[in-house]
Amino acid sequence: MTQPDENLRALAADYYISPEVFAEEREKLFFKCWQYACHISELAEPGDYVATSIQGQNVFVVRDQDHEIRAYYNICPHRGHKLVEGSGQTRAIVCPYHHWSFSLDGSLRHMRKRETSAVPAQKEVCLKVVRVDRLLDFIFINLDPDALPIAEFWPGIEAQVREKCPKVGSYVLGETAAAIHEVDVAANWKIQIDNYLECQHCRHGHISFSDMLDINNQTYELTKNAAYNFIPGNRKADNLAYPLDLEHDETDLHFWFLFPNIGISQFAGPGNLTLFQWNPIGTDRGLRWSINLEPPEPTDPGMRARQEKRAIWGRDVLQPEDISFLLSVQEGMSQRCFDQGWYIVDWENIEFSEAMMRHFHNTYLEHMGRTSPAAAQAAE
Ligand code: FES
Ligand SMILES: [Fe+2]
Repeated sequence: MTQPDENLRALAADYYISPEVFAEEREKLFFKCWQYACHISELAEPGDYVATSIQGQNVFVVRDQDHEIRAYYNICPHRGHKLVEGSGQTRAIVCPYHHWSFSLDGSLRHMRKRETSAVPAQKEVCLKVVRVDRLLDFIFINLDPDALPIAEFWPGIEAQVREKCPKVGSYVLGETAAAIHEVDVAANWKIQIDNYLECQHCRHGHISFSDMLDINNQTYELTKNAAYNFIPGNRKADNLAYPLDLEHDETDLHFWFLFPNIGISQFAGPGNLTLFQWNPIGTDRGLRWSINLEPPEPTDPGMRARQEKRAIWGRDVLQPEDISFLLSVQEGMSQRCFDQGWYIVDWENIEFSEAMMRHFHNTYLEHMGRTSPAAAQAAE
């Protein structure tokens, strides 16, 4: 039941449309929080590397000769050329421009005419280190040298995922067309995440989803910089979403939100674990990127076909249902009469509760250096 003293006013509309806010988010959130870089299997051998970026800041991750995973800014200290593209295998990082080369530990290895030229001391010319850490088999990077390690920033999440989804430790990168997926949505990244964090729209907005899952009996937990949502399945093999094999498939939905813009879920269907990252492109546009893991071997002869049906349902049914809401809400945020929405927080009727979304917003305000309503209340 909603308590009368709870904060019920949602994040102000300006946070979804202001270019100044977006510039601040880049500095305070995306350049200070953990962002996905690659899956561990992409760095299997020494010398394997993967190039990536955070809001235009180019980085690469590499496994060095001692099997350590390292990350560096993808820029040559000589004149600023990009060092590597895509992914590959190398014994040394060689800049394409003037062929300076660097060892995988970041130190300068070779420079032409070094003996006869006036050049800086070798140890001053090295690659700039970026923080790297791991959650499950996902490798993350962080541009903030002082950032908390993942185990402290998202405490308890790895253990909780392993406890709730005990099979995922053996899962590998998926082979189906849906293994890596990207959707470009004309809505602010937070509108997209808000939509994931509440299920008040599910019963009428996602009829097939609500036939497969028992949305009325879902639960959630709010933790530091994260939230966990569990929706038990209705255990109907023939439901309106896609067929389930009750002997071999998962039937429930587990979803973790990891601040600021990452989700991990195990959905009903053949064994799966999906990592999402919402990458803002501007105030009113963001890419929802995802990567899907699956069992190393099919659990049964029909598994791949069911996996495909699940992916097609996500792409052709669930996603369009949400996107129409997202586009309309983005337009709503810039209407002159709308300055701030409302939260519905109902601890007894979780289906209707927007408490996870409010937790996201309060965490957001804290990281942005604004006083969150919750903190203000605690101080009173
Ligand atoms: S810019 Fe890289 S070697 Fe010159
Ligand atoms: Fe939705």
